[in-house]
Amino acid sequence: MKIHVSLQENSYDIETGNGLLTHLPDYIDLNRKVMIVTDAGVPAQYAQTVADRCLEPVIETLAVGEDSKSLQGFTRLEESLLTHDFSRKDLVVAVGGGVVGDLAGFAAACYMRGIDFVNIPTTVLSQVDSSIGGKCAINFCGVKNIVGAFYQPKAVIIDHDVLKTLPRRHVANGLVEAIKMAATFDAALFEEIERAKELSDLYPVIARAIDLKRKVVEEDEKETGLRKVLNFGHTLGHGVEAACMPALLHGECVALGMLPMCAPSVRTRLCDLLRKWDLHTAYDFDTDLAMDAIRHDKKGNSGSVTTVYVEQIGAYEMRESDYDSLKEALLTIQGS
Ligand SMILES: NC(=O)c1ccc[n+]([C@@H]2O[C@H](COP(=O)([O-])OP(=O)(O)OC[C@H]3O[C@@H](n4cnc5c(N)ncnc54)[C@H](O)[C@@H]3O)[C@@H](O)[C@H]2O)c1
Repeated sequence: MKIHVSLQENSYDIETGNGLLTHLPDYIDLNRKVMIVTDAGVPAQYAQTVADRCLEPVIETLAVGEDSKSLQGFTRLEESLLTHDFSRKDLVVAVGGGVVGDLAGFAAACYMRGIDFVNIPTTVLSQVDSSIGGKCAINFCGVKNIVGAFYQPKAVIIDHDVLKTLPRRHVANGLVEAIKMAATFDAALFEEIERAKELSDLYPVIARAIDLKRKVVEEDEKETGLRKVLNFGHTLGHGVEAACMPALLHGECVALGMLPMCAPSVRTRLCDLLRKWDLHTAYDFDTDLAMDAIRHDKKGNSGSVTTVYVEQIGAYEMRESDYDSLKEALLTIQGS
């Protein structure tokens, strides 16, 4: 299935389906130098399948984890592009999760002021969220995603088959972002996720979540308005993340962060759904540490924070929450 993202001169297609890796030349021009960026946790056969279809492939395999999304990781890719004499006509392809996609996208955005970039996301999180919207970045001086750019890919290739090797915990972690979009925008999609029992049930869910994100990105490419709705669960989630790292993954923290930000009946449904995917609905963390991170995130703002609230599934409203009420909200997800 093809989903067209319409952003004037930055428009591109997202292709979703099974077995797309082997048919890559149908979607992108690989008749040039191609740097394939992956990490050591992504089964090597995926990058190799891409390389086998390229005229002049160069594979760069990074260490697993956030530390690769760094100035060192960036330098390594830029050096490799330079050493292999990449020109403006050549291509960078990311084959991996959000870490690989964010770093490779930023490297492509900067090399010669921008060379072609194609994203092949291999985690649920990167398929439904990070590969769409053009945000790419590295972490710097201990601050996540602080140095980066909006740089749209030439194409995004979503091959469902690569998810078969993804650990269930990472499937659930990424599913949270789809749940977030369904809870705020699409009650029918929420019900579809509630019905999903196994991985293959998620393929149509992923396609619909991508389409929702597409609509939001088309309306607000540079995140000045509507795109802020995608922050549902993220205000408290970031606080929980700061207090729990590295024990919890990002999506797991967002899952917790969504719970106090919805009406009681919505919270009940959300809890049932999260439990089904072995996600926490309460966690033991230091509330003060979480509050410090929330205040730090919002520094410069007055005493309140704009948060996304879900009164009923499929609809949202923006609310002003003061710090005391955010702390009370955090206390409702405390526990083990
Ligand atoms: N750009 C954006 O808009 C945006 C949005 C959300 C998150 N992000 C970023 O995304 C990153 C997190 O992404 P993530 O959750 O995909 O984590 P990740 O990239 O670290 O991948 C998670 C793990 O899964 C492994 N893996 C990847 N694909 C696999 C596969 N098919 N089979 C088996 N193992 C596989 C990886 O090696 C890694 O160990 C963070 O850096 C976050 O800041 C960016």
